[in-house]
This record gives sequence, structure tokens and C-alpha cells, in this order.
Amino acid sequence: MSNQFKRTLVTTALPYANGPIHIGHLAGVYVPADIYVRYLRSNNKDVKWVCGSDEHGVPITLKARKEGISPQEVVDRYHEIIKKSFHDFGISFDIYSRTSSKVHHETASTFFRKLYDENQFIENTTEQLFDEKENQFLADRYVVGTCPYCGFERAYGDQCEKCGTSLNGKELINPISAISGNKPVLRETKHWFLPLDKHEAFLRKWILEEHTEWKPNVYGQCKSWIDQGLQPRAVSRDLDWGVPVPIDGETGKVLYVWFDAPIGYISATKELTPNWELYWKDKETRLLHFIGKDNIVFHCIIFPAMLKAHGDYILPDNVPANEFLNLEGDKISTSRNWAVWLHEYLQEFPNQQDVLRYTLTANAPETSDNDFTWKNFQQRNNSELVAILGNFINRTIVLTNKYFDGKVPPINILTTQDEETLNEIAVIKQEVETNLEQFKFREALKQAMNLARLGNKYLAETEPWKLFKEDKSRVETIMHINLQITANLAIILEPFMPFTSSKIFDLLQLKPLQWSAIGKNILSQAHALSSSTELLFSKIEDEQIQLQVDKLEHSKKLINQKINVKPMKEEVTYDDFQKMDIRIGTILDAVKVPKTQKLLQLTIDTGIDTRTVVSGIAEHFQPQDIIGRQVSILVNLAPRKIKGIESKGMILMAENQDGKLEFVLPSASVSNGSNVS
Ligand code: 2FM
Ligand code: ZN
Repeated sequence: MSNQFKRTLVTTALPYANGPIHIGHLAGVYVPADIYVRYLRSNNKDVKWVCGSDEHGVPITLKARKEGISPQEVVDRYHEIIKKSFHDFGISFDIYSRTSSKVHHETASTFFRKLYDENQFIENTTEQLFDEKENQFLADRYVVGTCPYCGFERAYGDQCEKCGTSLNGKELINPISAISGNKPVLRETKHWFLPLDKHEAFLRKWILEEHTEWKPNVYGQCKSWIDQGLQPRAVSRDLDWGVPVPIDGETGKVLYVWFDAPIGYISATKELTPNWELYWKDKETRLLHFIGKDNIVFHCIIFPAMLKAHGDYILPDNVPANEFLNLEGDKISTSRNWAVWLHEYLQEFPNQQDVLRYTLTANAPETSDNDFTWKNFQQRNNSELVAILGNFINRTIVLTNKYFDGKVPPINILTTQDEETLNEIAVIKQEVETNLEQFKFREALKQAMNLARLGNKYLAETEPWKLFKEDKSRVETIMHINLQITANLAIILEPFMPFTSSKIFDLLQLKPLQWSAIGKNILSQAHALSSSTELLFSKIEDEQIQLQVDKLEHSKKLINQKINVKPMKEEVTYDDFQKMDIRIGTILDAVKVPKTQKLLQLTIDTGIDTRTVVSGIAEHFQPQDIIGRQVSILVNLAPRKIKGIESKGMILMAENQDGKLEFVLPSASVSNGSNVS
């Protein structure tokens, strides 16, 4: 492992505290980082890992508005849920902090103030979208409209989620306030901008020339941003939730969430250790940011430009960003509830953290987007964890109990096969290390599992159960080797599956061992194993998987229902509404209008008169079935001729999600002519 650095500081994207953690977050960021940090710790490296909740920004205030609670209540709720679920899943941060903390407000404020005092910002007054009804500027996601690049109709004021382009609210076609639905106007406001253009030459050299080793997806995105020419970026917003802009007299303005959030890494380190400066200011510290691909520009361009402008801090040495994980073929989405939520998984699959950790790593979206399916989850568990890993270890323990009373037998004369098998451990160790050091977690896990495959192969080929009677000494050697492989598995799997590793150490009655022990003689002769023969993994049945698939189907139904809901029509006044005269009437007669598919000619007793209405409901009702039914009818609609018949009024109908029409009616029978108001 590289010795160029004395210590490592790992950061993982601070999740927004507006929703729980899902498998997309885990696969892209937290599981790979956890593997990496555990690997460093196992190698006795000086490493700190900081994270926390991102508690500012419009997603939080929008959620608070929607639920009628304060932003603080939103972040308090989700911070706790997120923190607990990470902990229960074995994500081993050194600190999980939050950006609403005092130390963070102070750190972010001081950082901004230093840049401001040293004239590192441009102060500019520009026109921004403003909601006159709400008396509020529409920052970022407070405005939605049509994306000028791909035509997506629900693009946000800061980004189009369809094509991924970063946007400015003013670029949106037909912008609408996300709070009131109103058409915004333009109004002038003052903001501070980080002149990224001034840092362009530095960023070009630093990334494109000096960091050619970054992952191709990360390097490529940076190159594309830089080649397009960097523009000044606003670092403040007109909002009342966030870190206030620390300039006298500037009220109602806060730091842009993407300015304060990465500073959260510094604040969290401050909270963690009085030696925090060593991790941020010493050139011998290696800074690594684990993130998802949507965060690349912020961590590779904007935050480094901020750190450079500040001058006291080191820059990231690498930013191993992943692509996205989809779920059953569709993009994971918090707002559409298309996700596998971590806190729910932990409840529904108790003590099976490692099954998910394993599946997410084996399918990690490292080089391109990847898909999580419940079928694959089941298959990885049943055919790999149960059939390969669990099976090998269980057979080893059971045979040791049976033949040697649960004690490690001696190692006697070694055959070539024994030697080759033992030598293979060091080869696998090396493979795992090389891959981990290049952030290739999928391949590293595959190699680690090869150790279990090696054990199974060795056991199958040596067949100790056939030899015990005639050659006990040979069986002693075979089982000794199997037990050594088992102990090595406990160490090599620890970064990937810590719960399983700990169970294996318990079965072997060993204290956890460090990485350097891999390949060495770990278990000495006569060492007693635990008497437990607990299985490490158990089969996941089809019914369990079907439950999860059904749950997703249910979400999909709700999503489709939502999609079918048409947007609200233009606002009307109370007077407009009052002009409409809606009554309850009874259908006296109904006949199909000849030569049409959809039309019925209805004769209706409105309580005021008996009149004819032509209605487009023939595909939904048979005439004989609706005679005698009560309906709501708009009676003062100007008469129209339809297929030569004068129609006076309109029947009110509601359409369900399948497109089927139903009459709109009072819950009990009322007399004809009653007003609907
Ligand atoms: O994309 C997100 O979820 C952001 N909350 C990540 C912030 S990372 C950092 F800079 F704090
Ligand atoms: Zn778009």
C-alpha cells in the first residue's frame, strides 16, 4: 500500500436530511467507503472518516412546507433515522455530524468571510425569479419549468433531473413557482459569486494533467466542464434557512447549500478531533471524497476552487465517484418512493446486513449505472453466500467437531496440493489489495470470495470424510488447512462483511486479527473452537422476495396514479364559481345517439324542468342501467347542438386511474333541483 501519505481523511457525501437512506446511496457511496476505511484500519493506517447530515437547502424547506412543519423539525427527524440506520448497517463513520450544528455555522461563516475579506468573490446584482404572491425569491427547486435542453416539463430551477444539466431558474421555459403555482416575475437581487473562470487554469492543470489516474467517469466529467469554460457561480441565496451571509446589513440571505455543505466535512473533523488541522492542512494527509456522479462538479471543481481561494487547506487526492444504481430497471427516486429504504430493509431482513452489503458490492455501479433486482439479491444469497461461503465454513466446523472434538488438529506432511492451496492465500490477498487500492470494490470482493471457492474446491478434492478411518494423519492436515482458510476468510472479508467476519472469529474463538495476519499460520494446534455450529447464512425463500416485489408494485401503482393527475387549471375567482348553477337531477330516459360510439341522449328531471342533455358516457354505461339514477348537472351552461340534438347542460363525472367514468353524486339521495355549492 502506498506510503506517500502519513494519514488519510475520508469524506462521504453528506446526505440531505429530507428523507431516509436507500440502496442507491449505499451502493454508490457509503458501502465502498466503509470497505475502504475498514481496510485501512485493518492495516493499522491513520485514517479518519467524517460524514453528517446536509440540513440546508431547498429540498428541506420544501419538505417542511409540504408537511406544515419547520425545517428544523424535518432535519431533526431524518437526521436521527439516517444516523441510526447507518449505524445498524455497520457503516463505521468516525463521526456522523450535521450542518445545523453551531460549529458548522461558525466554520462555514468564517470560511465565507475570509474569502469575502480577501476579495475572492464578485458581488453582482442580477434579476432572479420572484413569486409576488408569496413575496419570495424562487431559488433552486422553488421553481419548476420546461428544460431548455431536453424539453422535460418538470425540470428544477437548479437542475434537470432528466438530462442532468445544471440550470439557472431563469433558463426554464414557462417557469412556475413550486410554492404557489404562480408565474414568477423577474426582480433584482444582490449575490456573491465565486469566479470559477479565474481558477480555470489551475483546475485544468491540477486535474487534467496531474490527476490522470482518477476514474475515467470522474476525469471525463471534469474535462467536459473545464473544456466548456467555467463561469462564476453564485454562492448565496435569498432564503431564510441556512447559514446567514456574514455581512452586516445583508438580511434574508444565506450561503448556497453547496457552499456550506462541503465545509461540513471540515466542521465534522473539528468536532471529531482537536488535531483536525493535521487532517486538513498537512501535505502528508491524503484527502478522499467518496460521492455519487451527480456530485462530481461540486467536489472536483467548486470545492477545490473554494479551498484554493482560501489557501490554508489541502486538496483531494482522489474522488472515487460511482455511477447510479437503478432499482428493477427504473431510476431510484425518493419523491416517487421508488427505492429500497435502508431502515425498512433492516426491519424486514433482521441480522442480514451482510447480504445487502454483499449484493450491493457485487453489483456496484462502478463504471456504469447498474441495476438492483430482488431476484438477483436472492440468487446472490442462495447461490453464493449460502452455497459457497456458508457451506465451506459450516462443513469445516462440523467436520472438526466430528473428527477432532472441536480442536484444531496438527498439520503433518504436506502434499503439493496442500502447498499450492496455502500459497494461493497470499496471491488472493495481493489481488484484493490491488483492487481495493484502485477503488475496484466489485473485483476485490470477487477475489476475496475466491478464498471460499478455494476452500470448497480443496475440501471437495481431498474428501476427508472418506479417509478418516484409514488415514487420520492425512485428515488432520486437511482439516488444519481448512481451518486456516476459514481464519483467513474472517480477516479478508471484514471490510466487506463485518458482521459475518465477526461471527467467523467467534466460531473460531479468535480475537479479530489485522490484515497483516493473512497468509500466516493463524490457528495453533489444539486451539479449541466454539461449540456453536450456527449457520452464517440461510436460504431466502421465494415468498420473501415476492413480498418485496409486491411492495414495489404497490409503489408503482401509486406513482402511476400520481402521474395521471392533471395539473391544476388556471385560478378562478369566487364570483366565477358562483356563476355556475349545479343541481341534482334524475335520469328519466337514456338512448344511444345513432351513428356514434360515445354519446347518450339523456332526459333529465332537474327539479326546474325536464330537459335533454347529450353526454359522452356511452362507452361506460348501458342506457338501461342508468335510468332512474341521480346525477349532478350544470344547468346554466349555454345550450349546444351535438349531432343535431340540442344539449342543455352538462353531467359531472369523475375519471378513475383506469380511465373509467363515475357519476359525481351526494353521499345520500337528495331531492331533484337541490343546489350543489
Ligand atoms: O447530493 C446530496 O445529497 C448532497 N446533500 C451532498 C452534499 S455533499 C457535501 F458536499 F456535503
Ligand atoms: Zn433536461
